Amino acid sequence: MQEDQLDQLLTCRLDSGRKAVEPCTIVIFGASGDLTARKLIPALYHLSVEKQMATPFRVVGFARREKSDDSFREEMKVALQQFSRTKVVDVLKWDAFAANLHYCQGDLTDPASYTKLAELLAGFPDERLRRNLLLYLSVGPSQFAPVVERCHAAGLLDQNDAGSCWQRVVVEKPFGRDLSSAYKLNADLTRFVHEKQIFRIDHYLGKETVQNILMFRFANSIFERLWNRESVDHVQITVSEKLGVGARGGYYEEAGALRDMVQNHLLQVLALVAMEPPVSLQAESVRDEKVKVLKAVRPLSPEDIARQVVRGQYFAGMIDNQLRVGYRQETKVATNSNMETYAALKLFIDNWRWSGVPFYLRTGKSLPLSASEVRIQFRPTPNVLFAAKSGGKLDPNALTLRLQPNEGISIRFNGKVPGTSTQVRPVRMHFGYDTEFGAYTPEAYERLLLEAMAGDATLFIRRDEVETAWGIVDPIRASWADKPLTNREFYSAGTWGPVAAEDLLAQSGHVWRDPQPLK
Ligand code: BG6
Repeated sequence: MQEDQLDQLLTCRLDSGRKAVEPCTIVIFGASGDLTARKLIPALYHLSVEKQMATPFRVVGFARREKSDDSFREEMKVALQQFSRTKVVDVLKWDAFAANLHYCQGDLTDPASYTKLAELLAGFPDERLRRNLLLYLSVGPSQFAPVVERCHAAGLLDQNDAGSCWQRVVVEKPFGRDLSSAYKLNADLTRFVHEKQIFRIDHYLGKETVQNILMFRFANSIFERLWNRESVDHVQITVSEKLGVGARGGYYEEAGALRDMVQNHLLQVLALVAMEPPVSLQAESVRDEKVKVLKAVRPLSPEDIARQVVRGQYFAGMIDNQLRVGYRQETKVATNSNMETYAALKLFIDNWRWSGVPFYLRTGKSLPLSASEVRIQFRPTPNVLFAAKSGGKLDPNALTLRLQPNEGISIRFNGKVPGTSTQVRPVRMHFGYDTEFGAYTPEAYERLLLEAMAGDATLFIRRDEVETAWGIVDPIRASWADKPLTNREFYSAGTWGPVAAEDLLAQSGHVWRDPQPLK
């Protein structure tokens, strides 16, 4: 038998017990926003092309601007041509998809608009289209609770989820701006919907490579036994972005890197890397373990924050030979803003597995490269034999999970340089998604929308998870609140962050390993 045939035989389908997606209507509140055009409609279109949508289905865009079904469809088609991952749009397939697309002009604050929406839904020809509803809140956080309340009042949301039909609410980030606002938001939402009906999005969880962290850890036996303080020296999680804040200055002035990236994406990746094996793959088992590990993150005192957390803000610099303006010169940013566009943290997880192992997290805008990576750096060898001869220069083994782009996994170890002299050099063993599986990587939103329609909450954030994550970052935000940035906290666009971030690792004899552009 050919080896590739054997590989095919070994492919195990794990989703045979999954709930099928039932016919339903997806209502997008805030449908004239960027997210709808860039992500949601392209994702739904691809799901429909790949026959993953149930038949029948409907999508209703709800927004304030006056539009007909036809003009909404036309607008979405233009957007799809620009943002679809396949770029070339199949006109026939688009037409088949677009026939299910509707528009409801309405004001989020006006109860009459919800009655109008209810009337539109009532006209759909199938009970399941009328009653199985995925209400997608692509609106500002201040609107989450009012929209849910009005949907409830219009009879669109049934908290008891009774009978064979279901209603679910998908909530975009940011989920609150601190622990107390998240807490209030949760309390407000659960007045009208049950926690199990709320699907809080963190789009990082929809990324293939992020999902693969659990499979990599728990479907293999050789790595997991090294995954602890006995073998791991420290962990680095980097999410770097080449872009600056661009047109999002207004939003960013409220958020900063801590709220925009650390509280959600980076802590989610940390949770998946560090959690214990769940007892099953059920949503609650997985989420229980994520919450447990987040709860084990050692709380940061003001002294810890001064030593273990670094912020930064970019000033003008060059990226790809182009001059980039500084953050303070971006549109809608105050010229004396102290908002951080970079954050680096050293966290400890106080549990049996990870006690004493530093977890370094960093993220920033206007860095030299867009790349997300998790690097597990193993302990060095004892200082004898080759290590002793190399004067402490022997590269420690490392395993890198490249989350994006050029998704893959690499192991670095030392090898002998061929020849008569004895020289040692780090070499790499690499698995690349593209080489192994071809270039197909579905967008995070495709997976997330599908899971929400199927009612599987594994890839969504539970209430206690979001609150625990805010509990980790809140003290940092508070300690920065009234302190202006110092010179050591600025970095030039196109560099890897402020010098203070280097010092953060140097305290323990570590250095950042910057993601490399893959050839
Ligand atoms: C979003 C942040 O959640 O994630 C953005 O608001 C950031 O500021 C983006 O650019 C990064 O996502 P991705 O998928 O491009 O890594």
